[in-house]
Amino acid sequence: MIKNTLFIFSLVSIVYLSSCYYDKADMIYTQNLACDTTAVKYTTIVAPILTKNCNFCHGGTAANGAGIVLDNYASAKVYISNGRLLNSILHNGKASAMPKGGGKLDACSINKITNWINKGAINN
Ligand code: HEC
Repeated sequence: MIKNTLFIFSLVSIVYLSSCYYDKADMIYTQNLACDTTAVKYTTIVAPILTKNCNFCHGGTAANGAGIVLDNYASAKVYISNGRLLNSILHNGKASAMPKGGGKLDACSINKITNWINKGAINN
């Protein structure tokens, strides 16, 4: 009797734990689907991505960004307009791959920046 109870308890635990696993996978999947690239603004989306991934080299006072400044709209716009910023994050061989020495940005960030640039890269 005790053995049966233990067996059922183990079974329930296994089912419960594995359902947890699938719940998490579902969440990640939903987050990917939920990447909203439609209403991307410079101030709330693009600038924070650059701050997090680029500006410790490309900030105005940083010495390791080859003088390329991306921490304000006017300076960043130069590299947006000549296509170098987008090419650099796309890793397409048309500009140095960025972030330098790091992995490619996540697909959602790249899609957001791409869409914002395609819509005119407005200072919004
Ligand atoms: C570890 C420092 C570092 C980080 C982080 C970094 N860069 Fe750079 N970046 C450089 C250096 C150094 C150069 C100049 C040498 C070269 O082109 O590789 C450069 C060059 C560039 C260029 C000019 C490329 C060309 O071919 O003309 C662009 C555009 C650029 N970076 C954008 C970015 C963006 C956008 C990010 C963040 C997603 C980023 N960088 C992250 C150091 C960095």
